[in-house]
Amino acid sequence: MASKPLLDKYRALVNLPEYTKLVSLHEGETPLILLSRLASELGGGFQLFAKFEGLNPTGSFKDRGMTAAISEALGRGLKTVICASTGNTAASAAAYAARAGMRAIVLIPEGKVASGKLAGAMAYGAEVLQISGSFDKAFELVVELSQHEPIALVNSLNPYRLEGQKTAAFEIIEELGDAPDWLCLPVGNAGNITAYWMGFRQYHQLHDSKLPRLLGVQAEGAAPLVLGHPVEQPETVATAIRIGKPARGEQALEAAEESSGRIIAASDEEILAMQRRLAREGVWVEPASAAGLAGMAKEIQANSIDVKGKRVVAVCTGHGLKDPNIISDTMPVPIKIEADLLSLMRAITYQ
Ligand code: F0G
Repeated sequence: MASKPLLDKYRALVNLPEYTKLVSLHEGETPLILLSRLASELGGGFQLFAKFEGLNPTGSFKDRGMTAAISEALGRGLKTVICASTGNTAASAAAYAARAGMRAIVLIPEGKVASGKLAGAMAYGAEVLQISGSFDKAFELVVELSQHEPIALVNSLNPYRLEGQKTAAFEIIEELGDAPDWLCLPVGNAGNITAYWMGFRQYHQLHDSKLPRLLGVQAEGAAPLVLGHPVEQPETVATAIRIGKPARGEQALEAAEESSGRIIAASDEEILAMQRRLAREGVWVEPASAAGLAGMAKEIQANSIDVKGKRVVAVCTGHGLKDPNIISDTMPVPIKIEADLLSLMRAITYQ
């Protein structure tokens, strides 16, 4: 029997209009992976898990929100969806629109979209438009256009995106038996941290589960919520979160504060180092997805966060396969050998 669509499973908890027509690719139910070695490297005495959202159908957490946004748009009778994207939203919107038989238009910032994301958007048949400008400019344009045309905006300004994405909080609580003490995650346009907080609060009100503290992490060169002002020219190797004016910035700051957490920045070096450490535990994520844990590691090492006896969940938002170049560009070239046993034995002996 096919697995249950996410929105069927959480029908009672997710607020969608009656007219919604379900479009699903069997998103969600991603694993919580225990990272024992990394936890002991960070001082030990606590439990650390990765919520590996890269295992969603298009390789990122966006699919949880996209199933909801596209289902609502289809039910409303719309035929076209649009989004601005640093890549993952584009691929996800393209896939769910394809499934629904709708047209998808995506605007991306020129030259800054990882190859796996662009390839996905094209493969699923989206119309991809590159602008000579940043994500923030692309976002401004699609918001304006969707106010004038019968086109559904499927960025996380769309409330149904958050309704879908909050289900990740439910899954974590159900698997751990309660919310973790800390949840760390990357912050870009700030929809996801807002959605997690909605989910944790809702579960808390219904079932008296714990409320976690949230650590949102931006990239140092794209950290408007840390600096307290927009960043005109955001720059980071973590292209997914290369955003200078987050649409839900206010809500993200509120969520961090209400949860007694905070939003901090991690440098590109720290992000890439954490990407490597995660990969050495078998969890390969794209750079932005390592930002949450990079920030948490920094806080633990500086004694700013005490995790002893606690449970920490790091949300790993997208798969490493999305951005292969970041690895292959810095990788040593494979060693060439002759195709015979002696050469093979020599090569492995002398490594
Ligand atoms: N991690 C990844 C892999 C992302 O793609 C994004 C956002 C985030 C984290 C941040 O999430 O925006 O809800 O704070 N990507 C968007 C996109 C902007 O267009 O794919 P957020």
